[in-house]
Amino acid sequence: MALETLADAFYHELCDIYHAEKQLTKALPKMAKHATNPQLAEAFEMHLAETQEQVLRVEAAFADTGKAPKAKKCEAMAGLLEEATSVLEEDAEPGVLDALLICAAQKVEHYEIATYGTLCTWAQQLGYSEAKSLLDSIMAEEEAADAKITKLSRVINKQAKVRA
Ligand SMILES: [Fe+2]
Repeated sequence: MALETLADAFYHELCDIYHAEKQLTKALPKMAKHATNPQLAEAFEMHLAETQEQVLRVEAAFADTGKAPKAKKCEAMAGLLEEATSVLEEDAEPGVLDALLICAAQKVEHYEIATYGTLCTWAQQLGYSEAKSLLDSIMAEEEAADAKITKLSRVINKQAKVRA
């Protein structure tokens, strides 16, 4: 893929986040299943439903580029999710496991927020108004999801023993 213009950069990153969101729909059910706090499990389930819908909105955002939707392997998300799911294989105390799952989830959200922030700015510059409004709506959901787990962490982190 030749990267000559900002439009090329936009398409490149959109292909990346499209793949990232798809990967996340596979990891969130595992995270929900292993979370011990029911509210945390519920937050992951809710974000799964949101993420499945975001995949469709990202797909729709391709229309402004005039190119077909394409998923390009997002190595960053693959790495973040590998870390998130490797925690599940550790022998962790329930409260500690939940604290680690929150940490992993927030890394994912911040990664997504960084990408959507850039894509929204570029969409504006490129005059991709439909893509801009779709991506703005996803960005708002990611920020809300991040804020929600921050709030949950204030209660859940207290379930973990501070030290031996
Ligand atoms: Fe997302």
